[in-house]
Amino acid sequence: MAPEPEDEIKDEKNPRPLDEDDIALLKTYGLGPYSTSIKKVEKEIKEMAKKVNDLCGIKESDTGLAAPSQWDLVSDKQMMQEEQPLQVARCTKIINPNTEDAKYVINVKQIAKFVVGLGDKVSPTDIEEGMRVGVDRNKYQIQIPLPPKIDPSVTMMTVEEKPDVTYNDVGGCKEQIEKMREVVELPMLHPEKFVKLGIDPPKGVLCYGPPGTGKTLLARAVANRTDACFIRVIGSELVQKYVGEGARMVRELFQMARSKKACIVFFDEVDAIGGARFDDGVGGDNEVQRTMLEIVNQLDGFDARGNIKVLMATNRPDTLDPALLRPGRLDRKVEFGLPDLESRTQIFKIHTRTMNCERDIRFELLARLCPNSTGADIRSVCTEAGMYAIRARRKTVTEKDFLDAVNKVIKGYQKFSATPKYMVYN
Ligand SMILES: Nc1ncnc2c1ncn2[C@@H]1O[C@H](COP(=O)(O)OP(=O)(O)OP(=O)(O)O)[C@@H](O)[C@H]1O
Ligand SMILES: [Mg+2]
Repeated sequence: MAPEPEDEIKDEKNPRPLDEDDIALLKTYGLGPYSTSIKKVEKEIKEMAKKVNDLCGIKESDTGLAAPSQWDLVSDKQMMQEEQPLQVARCTKIINPNTEDAKYVINVKQIAKFVVGLGDKVSPTDIEEGMRVGVDRNKYQIQIPLPPKIDPSVTMMTVEEKPDVTYNDVGGCKEQIEKMREVVELPMLHPEKFVKLGIDPPKGVLCYGPPGTGKTLLARAVANRTDACFIRVIGSELVQKYVGEGARMVRELFQMARSKKACIVFFDEVDAIGGARFDDGVGGDNEVQRTMLEIVNQLDGFDARGNIKVLMATNRPDTLDPALLRPGRLDRKVEFGLPDLESRTQIFKIHTRTMNCERDIRFELLARLCPNSTGADIRSVCTEAGMYAIRARRKTVTEKDFLDAVNKVIKGYQKFSATPKYMVYN
C-alpha cells in the first residue's frame, strides 16, 4: 500500500535513524539463502587445503608456475605486444622545474642525450635530478621512475621473514644479551639519552668465541626482536671473482642500509674477508683486503647516531685486521665463552622443550656430566637421546637415553671437538 503523501513529507523532515535490526536486515539484501553457510564451508576447505599442503611438504618440481593446463599463451603474447619494453635512462637535468613546461634532459647510455617531456602516468613531483627512469622507445618520454640500481644479490641478503628465535631460546649468555641490546636497541629506541650526554653510541659489535656457542643464534634473536630491517651477509659471499666486485657489493649494501629507516647489518664469519693485511708476494689476497677496506671505509662513513648498526661474528678474532676493530668502528667486543653449569641446564631445558620426555629428568645432573661443552654439543646430546628412543621404539625419551647420549656425544666425539683449539685464540 502506498503511503499517504502527508506521511511521506513528515518522514523526510524527521527521518527515523536505523536501528540494529534494520541494519541486520539491510545486510541480508542481495545474499542468497545459503551464502553464510557456503562461506563457512569455503573457509573450512581453505584451511583443510592448507593443512594438506603442510603435510605434503614441498614438492620437488615447485617452480611457482601455474599448472600447464591453465596457461594462456595467446593472451600473454598479445599483452607483451601491447606493452612495449621501456629503456633505462638517467635524468641528468630538469629544465624550468616547477613550471608548466618543464623539460627533462635524459641520458640513454651509449645512445644519446635527449630533452623530453613526461608520459601520461608520471607526475612532475616523482622525478628528481640524477634519478634512473624508464623511457619508451619512440618519443623517449619518461614513463616511470626507477629505484636506484642495487645488485640483486645484495637485495637478496635482507632477511624478510623474522627468524623464529627469541631471547628465550638462548640459554645463558645473560651478559652478552645485555651488552648486545645496549648497543643495538638503546640507540634506536632512546637516541635522546645519547644526545643529552653528548656521546656517540657505539656503531657496532664484534661477537667472538668458539664454534657453537650461540653467536649466530643471538644475532637471529636480535633480528627477531627489532622491527629494523635486518641484512645478513656471510663473509664469503663478498669474495668475488672480479676485481672490485666485492668492494662494490659492500658499497651497495650500505647504500641500501642507509635508505632504510633503521637497519642492522650482520656480517657472519667475518674472518673470510677481515683478515689482517699482509703481502703474500702474489697479490691473490689483495682483492679480499680491498673488500675489507671498503667495509672500514663505510664504517667511518655513516653517522653513529644514525640508524645503522653493524654486528660481526667470528671464531678467530686474532686474525682480524686491527683497523677493523679499533674503537670508533667496532667499539664493543662481546665474548661468547663456554656456558657454565646453570646455563647448560638452561640450554638442556630449551632444547628438550619440544621433545616428548619422561617427567623428572635431572637436567642439572646431565649438565654436570658435560663439562666444557658448547650449546651445540648439548643440542646434539638431546637429538641423540631422541635417536636412542626411536631405536628402542619408544614414544618418550627417558633419562637413561640422555645418559647414553652424553656418553656417546661428549666422550666419544672428544677427538673431533675443536673447542679447546679455538679457546686458545679467544
Ligand atoms: N646459548 C645457547 N642456547 C641455546 N642453544 C644454543 C646456545 N648456543 C648454541 N646453541 C645451539 O647450537 C647451535 C649452533 O649455534 P650457533 O650457530 O649460534 O653457533 P656459532 O657460535 O655461530 O658457531 P660458528 O662460530 O661455528 O658459526 C644453535 O642452533 C643452537 O641450537
Ligand atoms: Mg655462526
